[in-house]
Amino acid sequence: MKGIILAGGTGSRLYPLTLAVNKQLLPVYDKPLIYYPLSLLIECGLTEILLISSPPALPAFYKLLGDGLHVGINLSYAPQESPGGIAQALLIAEDFLAGDSCCLVLGDNIFIAPSIVPAVRKAAVDLKGALIFACQVQFPARYGVLAWDECGQVQAIVEKPSVPPSSWAVTGLYCFDGSAPKRAAKLKPSARGELEITDVNVNYLQDNALQVDRLPRSSAWFDAGTPGSLLDAANYVQVLQTRQGRLIGSPEICAYRRHLIVADELRALGHAQQASPYGQQLLSFAMEDRIHAGT
Ligand code: DAU
Repeated sequence: MKGIILAGGTGSRLYPLTLAVNKQLLPVYDKPLIYYPLSLLIECGLTEILLISSPPALPAFYKLLGDGLHVGINLSYAPQESPGGIAQALLIAEDFLAGDSCCLVLGDNIFIAPSIVPAVRKAAVDLKGALIFACQVQFPARYGVLAWDECGQVQAIVEKPSVPPSSWAVTGLYCFDGSAPKRAAKLKPSARGELEITDVNVNYLQDNALQVDRLPRSSAWFDAGTPGSLLDAANYVQVLQTRQGRLIGSPEICAYRRHLIVADELRALGHAQQASPYGQQLLSFAMEDRIHAGT
């Protein structure tokens, strides 16, 4: 299984913040937003990752993340010439995937949901069809929303319905088998002119090949697309990190935990940033070698 991060879009709901800076490069407390989905993919064991963004934003992503070797991954980049929809990522990634399954994550989605990691790791081994993750939310009309039948099976998925059929939103994390690019290629643009990821999911559903993993209530999911949700996410991360004394959404720590880098390499990455609390946390993590203590 390969990873895809979709990190383009106009970010218009965040103007003027995003007039000069790509949304996924904005800070969420102490690190750029893109670190969170990238960390999730690394934690899930994916080491071949494609980052898709708008052509003007790609150099800044490369400056930040390079080829990924510092965190033991192979990170490549591809342009999305204009925001033609989330499902377009599957077409852009077709050559990169070369028939492999994928885990696609939206660059503005932050998950603090440990149950995702074993689910994606399992999917990487034996996925047939698609696996998506659903989360209960207060305002489902902003999302793709699931409709359930009386047996608790998914009946339909509706994109931003005015009358939501349930409170279960489809999150921006999708595992697809190798047929996803071909399914995306058959889509027609929606009324808003986009290739909708919901239509890909519906296509799998129609083939009886869609699994839905409901995130437990203890999970937190942020779609940091508005000033309010960006601030909520930052506050949440700050509180959790301060209380627990450990970094959330750190690609370096995830790489270390996955044995993609060793303690000396983590220490060197911390040294390079030791003027910041983030760098100091990398250093102290490397020194305490907490992984072996099981934390
Ligand atoms: O966050 C989960 C939701 O994401 C799902 O529940 C919806 O089904 C799905 O359509 C999507 O809804 P949004 O309205 O939040 O999508 P948005 O247009 O904001 O795009 C999400 C991210 O993907 C954002 O970081 C920008 C990026 N993006 C989006 C499009 C349409 C691209 O990079 N290129 C694109 O063409």
